[in-house]
Amino acid sequence: MRAPLTMHTAATLATTGGRAAPASTRAPESPLAVRGLTVSYGEKPAIFSVDADFPAQAMTAIIGPNGAGKSTLLKAALGVIPRLSGEVSIFGTPVEQARDRIAYVPQRASVDWDFPTTVIDVVQMGLYRKVGLLGRLSGAMTAQARECLDRVGMADFAHRQIGQLSGGQQQRVFLARALAQDADLYLLDEPFAGVDAATERAIIDVLKLLKAEGKAVVAVHHDLSTVADYFDHVFLINVRRIAEGPVATTFTPENLSAAYGGRLAATHMAELAGVAS
Ligand SMILES: Nc1ncnc2c1ncn2[C@@H]1O[C@H](COP(=O)(O)OP(=O)(O)OP(=O)(O)O)[C@@H](O)[C@H]1O
Ligand SMILES: [Mg+2]
Repeated sequence: MRAPLTMHTAATLATTGGRAAPASTRAPESPLAVRGLTVSYGEKPAIFSVDADFPAQAMTAIIGPNGAGKSTLLKAALGVIPRLSGEVSIFGTPVEQARDRIAYVPQRASVDWDFPTTVIDVVQMGLYRKVGLLGRLSGAMTAQARECLDRVGMADFAHRQIGQLSGGQQQRVFLARALAQDADLYLLDEPFAGVDAATERAIIDVLKLLKAEGKAVVAVHHDLSTVADYFDHVFLINVRRIAEGPVATTFTPENLSAAYGGRLAATHMAELAGVAS
């Protein structure tokens, strides 16, 4: 005779679709977890033995000075650059098996803006994973691409060449492509770099909406004055992990000082951290 279900096992079965999960897999899986991640382009590591756990349904800021390894961390997490050592897990699975759950907006300086393609084509690239490279995009998918452009206020530019847009407009288009991917984890490398206040507002509104839909948003961010307003969680890095946690407890003068060294004046840091309290 089978043992009766206890409240505990009933709850476990309910959340695992009927399969009893081992204790180690019961906790909700982190959208992005890295352990002991080391990446090196030459002799000196760009990031060294980094651990991180970015939370679900939250906006996380990756903060640190130029050259701290922020972009490297994102690229290594995506698996687009090789890691020397360490583990990356996306929603509890290896990154190779979770690519269709991740949308990535690269740092603007790293994109070749001269490639001859239109704005709507760029956004539709976000949909190819669903139909396959040789698949034809259905009318519904084209409409979806247009809707994503509309969400970032770029519908009027659908047939413009991407290289003929301003920097801020290009940034909006790449966000539209990320939206078209309908991912669960959004990784954005400096989404607000060089954009005007209206574009920044438009982008943050879209990101907050993604969070409200239950997505995890991770953005490299340089403007320390908006961290407390935009983000829930912060990760400070300078080659090594400096600190990670909720903004209210982690975005402190001590941690900023540790990340930036003497490069930020103490009064400025106290002011910024005051924003978080
Ligand atoms: N392709 C590469 N080849 C060699 N070194 C590289 C390469 N990409 C980055 N680096 C080096 O690795 C270190 C980390 O670079 P990374 O781009 O990750 O920094 P970052 O924190 O994103 O900086 P920024 O704020 O300027 O964007 C830097 O010292 C950089 O010079
Ligand atoms: Mg960078």
